[in-house]
Amino acid sequence: MLVGQLAIARQLNQLIFYGHGPSNLQALSPKCPGDTLMPDLDAIDRYLEQHRAAHLEQLFEWLRIPSVSADSHFRPEVERAAAWVEQLCRGNGWQTERIEGDGPPMVVASTPPVASAPCVLVYGHYDVQPADPLELWHSPPFDPQVRDGNIYARGATDDKGQLLTHLLGAAAWQGTGQPLPLQLKVLIEGEEEVGSGLLEQKLPELADRLACDAIVISDSSQYGPGQPAITYGLRGIAYFELRLSGPKQDLHSGLFGGAVTNPALALANLLTAMRSADGRINLPEFYDAVQPLDAEERAQWQGLNFSDQQLAQQLQVSGLTGESGYSTLERRWGRPSFDVHGLTSGYQGEGGKTIIPARASAKLSFRLVPNQHPDQVADQLRRFVAQHTPPGVTCEVVDLHGGQAVVVDRHTPPMAAAARAIAAGFGRAPVFIREGGSIPIVSLMVEHLTDQVLLMGWGQADDNAHSPNEKFALEDFYRGIRTSSHLWQALASAASAEA
Ligand code: BES
Ligand code: ZN
Repeated sequence: MLVGQLAIARQLNQLIFYGHGPSNLQALSPKCPGDTLMPDLDAIDRYLEQHRAAHLEQLFEWLRIPSVSADSHFRPEVERAAAWVEQLCRGNGWQTERIEGDGPPMVVASTPPVASAPCVLVYGHYDVQPADPLELWHSPPFDPQVRDGNIYARGATDDKGQLLTHLLGAAAWQGTGQPLPLQLKVLIEGEEEVGSGLLEQKLPELADRLACDAIVISDSSQYGPGQPAITYGLRGIAYFELRLSGPKQDLHSGLFGGAVTNPALALANLLTAMRSADGRINLPEFYDAVQPLDAEERAQWQGLNFSDQQLAQQLQVSGLTGESGYSTLERRWGRPSFDVHGLTSGYQGEGGKTIIPARASAKLSFRLVPNQHPDQVADQLRRFVAQHTPPGVTCEVVDLHGGQAVVVDRHTPPMAAAARAIAAGFGRAPVFIREGGSIPIVSLMVEHLTDQVLLMGWGQADDNAHSPNEKFALEDFYRGIRTSSHLWQALASAASAEA
């Protein structure tokens, strides 16, 4: 961080923690028995400055482990990534536990409870998306490198880099000989990128162990470069595979073309019928549960001055498209959408081959908004497919995974505390946004743990998450660590001010 930025951040920080005059000092001081001293956040800032290289090396170590959850060949590496982060937590003196089951292990860690202070759960994931197509990477995905101020590696932003900021931000308190002002619990899973199966299954029985007053998640983005954000809503998802079968084997298209249904064409027709030209999704009753956007929220998003033109330029597309009647932010954050992720059928090799393929399949998903449920969407999709599958082929709908959308109250004391910590760490107050991505477990956490969810993303929308050349800005990594170190104090203070 530049010296000037640091100075601004320090000033903000003083405003935040000491700016209300001496009468508030007592209320804001940590509630450790026998400890009435203010924490020395300057010492933590200095500690973080001194440990920049060491922190980066720690991230690099983790990024070198190719923990791809979607591909079972990587399972030993997935286990290694879990062991790595468990070791990091144990090295901090935190109690750790590995939770095994059907799927990559989860790591749970905790620090001791602090009398009269809240307990905060940090959630994140150590699994990453597959790195292919490998040939499009400018440096190998699991050999992290810094170029132009960015860390390039699979998992740099999603989510190892972002998650690590909290582990380091908490460790900095201990590194400066100061006890954390609240209890921290950490939950790190290894299959967020493939639907959080094990966590979904275990969460009800883990609810007591994970009991907390707030949940902190850094697995999303800032609004833009230099403009941090707090995300108060995420879309849900319902993910499927369609498998069409026609004749018993591939057929000569000259002999049989015109006489049998081609599964590839039947699939193409099914997919195009699923959405109209105006962007509306045609599953039966699909919009019945959709919660309309409220006027105040639409007005607030309008105020974010989003530029369609800039995004089109950045993505190198000639223009943006989507459901008519809605702005781009509304379509991405507050309206459902439908996408096809992969298509497989017929001959893909060099040259031509005149066949009617026996099979065709597609991977597809619907992004969901509040009040839609993935199980209902599965039912709607099955009905749609039954109505639209032509004679001569059969179509199987495989339900891969799903999760509901979440929108949380953005006017709570923990939100205000998170905003103050961001202002201290980034030198700028955050804007409040929703995002179109999904973290399916969050809706279940709201159900089983708490609705005080703080989604504090340090990434950027152009970090290439899930794409070649994934990156995370070095400075966003360091600002994230600094914000995290301030967050614990801000949340503890907010809780004691409330009490
Ligand atoms: N970090 C993302 C989710 C995200 C991205 C939230 C951008 C907000 C903004 C997460 O790791 C992810 O990619 N989730 C998947 C979930 C799916 C595989 C069930 C997603 O959104 O596609
Ligand atoms: Zn992801």
